[in-house]
Amino acid sequence: SPAESSLQELSKPCVSEEDKYADVDWDNLGFGLTPADYMFVMKCSKDENFRTGQISPFGNIELSPSAGVLNYGQGLYEGTKANRTDDGRILLFRPEQNAMRMKRGAERLCMPSPSIDQFVDAVKEITLANKHWVPPPGKGSLYIRPLLIGSGPILGLGPAPECTFLIYASPVRNYFKEGTAPLNLYIEEEFVRASPGGAGGVKSITNYAPVLKAITKAKGRGFSDVLYLDAVNKKYIEEVSSCNIFVLKGNLISTPATIGTILEGVTRKSVMEIAKDLGYQVEERQILVDELVDADEVFCTGTAVGVAPVGSITHQNKRIEFKMEGQLVCQKLYSTLVGIQTGVIEDKKGWTIEI
Ligand code: COI
Repeated sequence: SPAESSLQELSKPCVSEEDKYADVDWDNLGFGLTPADYMFVMKCSKDENFRTGQISPFGNIELSPSAGVLNYGQGLYEGTKANRTDDGRILLFRPEQNAMRMKRGAERLCMPSPSIDQFVDAVKEITLANKHWVPPPGKGSLYIRPLLIGSGPILGLGPAPECTFLIYASPVRNYFKEGTAPLNLYIEEEFVRASPGGAGGVKSITNYAPVLKAITKAKGRGFSDVLYLDAVNKKYIEEVSSCNIFVLKGNLISTPATIGTILEGVTRKSVMEIAKDLGYQVEERQILVDELVDADEVFCTGTAVGVAPVGSITHQNKRIEFKMEGQLVCQKLYSTLVGIQTGVIEDKKGWTIEI
């Protein structure tokens, strides 16, 4: 097939620098969609296991109007990145963590999920097929977006008869238009992100559309994103729409405990480990919104976001500002994380996979 012969072309060794990269304006990448050439698709019926998938050119997919995902939101997504090292190699970062999280989510949403190996192999395959789209060193990453959706038709509420696991990819750089400048967060009091017993702890697509209203309102008022409070007491901080949150006070770094309403971020987990290695005390616990006024630093973590310093948080019309002078702890954490992800710092943890 044409796709197969192009794949054979792609896997030939690069003959020159020009051949190495897709035709992208690498200096002006944000977090918009610039679809890479190929996607991966694998289907199975709801009571079976996934077997084999296929690489095909990126393009629209066909779905019944009564697909489970369209009608009842039976869908999960993941996000992971491939980075290029200074000497041109390509590194994945802990994709098995995304595979495990998708498995937990699939269990919650009554879908079969690919095995850890199937997931990781598919991520490797799609990255290799799109290797020309992995940005040059220092220009960003290839963002890899796996989806698991109830693709089969269903009318009564229930698990869709067929599920599809799909991966597409896009080169990206900074998630926020602020770039690497500090974020200004707005604490939302009217809308909540997740409630106990809901699906806030897994990467269900249903966690994202309901926050659009709060994000739109906050962005309209000049804020970068929204910080949500716990749904029950409205007094503990939980998560930002697109990332996890951390608070630093002295030598103690705290982040909300994953009690079912907090997404178990791969960057969150990695940053906690790096912080411990650097000598900080790290706690997962409930954090009162009232503690923010005393914080030395607040920062966000996520695959898309990286590690982003927070410059201010506005709560009930009061703006709390955080000091931004000198070297911030979160910058130290970020440079260590990015160093490992890009092969600048030796990976002693076995977090990266070279493909
Ligand atoms: C990620 O960081 O990969 C996410 O899934 C967040 C999304 C809003 C881009």
